[in-house]
Amino acid sequence: MKHHLISAADLTRDDAVLILDTAEEMARVADRPIKKLPTLRGRTVVNLFFEDSTRTRISFEAAAKRLSADVINFSAKGSSVSKGESLKDTALTLEAMGADAVVIRHHASGAPYRLANSGWIDGAVVNAGDGTHEHPTQALLDAFTMRRRLVGRDRGIGRDLAGRRITIVGDVLHSRVARSNVLLLNTLGAEVTLVAPPTLVPIGVESWPCEVSYDLDSVLPKSDAVMMLRVQRERMNAAFFPTEREYSRRYGLDGDRMARMPEDSIVMHPGPMNRGMEITAEVADSDRCTAVEQVANGVSTRMAVLYLLLGGAEPAAPAPHARTEETK
Ligand code: NCD
Repeated sequence: MKHHLISAADLTRDDAVLILDTAEEMARVADRPIKKLPTLRGRTVVNLFFEDSTRTRISFEAAAKRLSADVINFSAKGSSVSKGESLKDTALTLEAMGADAVVIRHHASGAPYRLANSGWIDGAVVNAGDGTHEHPTQALLDAFTMRRRLVGRDRGIGRDLAGRRITIVGDVLHSRVARSNVLLLNTLGAEVTLVAPPTLVPIGVESWPCEVSYDLDSVLPKSDAVMMLRVQRERMNAAFFPTEREYSRRYGLDGDRMARMPEDSIVMHPGPMNRGMEITAEVADSDRCTAVEQVANGVSTRMAVLYLLLGGAEPAAPAPHARTEETK
């Protein structure tokens, strides 16, 4: 694996399967009475968040803490960034504090790449969402959720998502989740279809490894998983569709539409959800919707990423009976 995780395209099939398999080991730790491993003791993980986040920030924090790392949470609000401090000066401060990993969310696409390739810091950089560009750990936790649900928790070990049909619906234009998912799912052998109004399909999508459709109803019966995306109003500087009602009517998932999906198929959403817009409450609260499961899986997946980037050679999750004197 590379030293940083900036794009889902940084991962080979074997890297991605190794992360998913390691995440399964991490998930078993979450079932133990004591959910903590000593693996990253003495290491420092900095969560550097320049943009709002609920799930991703607390998920990385929980992941690093469960691996016993020291965690420093930095949010731009209330820091010297609001006094105009640059990314470079912030990075130099983190380096001076000895950060072994920097998890960064930034409103500018490319900020994590800049941080990783600037020479300002030595630690591993993990992209936790940059502008409309990428969100690779979200794609990994989504793939983990799909592998568990569509292949099986134990049967999935060592396997990818070959032949699974995944549909991603909605505001693809502003979605870093969609881009990272398309890249990772393609690496894992899945067939991806994007469904969106023409105004919310990115320019250059022809070069993405996926199909594009404008007709949700025709794609639903052929989908093993349907991932609904949030309509990202905060990134919209124009009217991309006539009315919210019209958007929901054509691209929203309600109970009637869900009934057209194959029986064992799942509905996914990265959160935060706009209930009543891209997804109805009936679908969001149904057993087929994995939104809450995705959040839980996010912790295990991010533990796996941090462990593999920082952990070195020790076993990820020693069996409880094999605890050393040191870890008791
Ligand atoms: C997504 C994000 O921030 O890119 N959410 C997340 O990480 N769970 C998607 C979104 O904001 O709609």
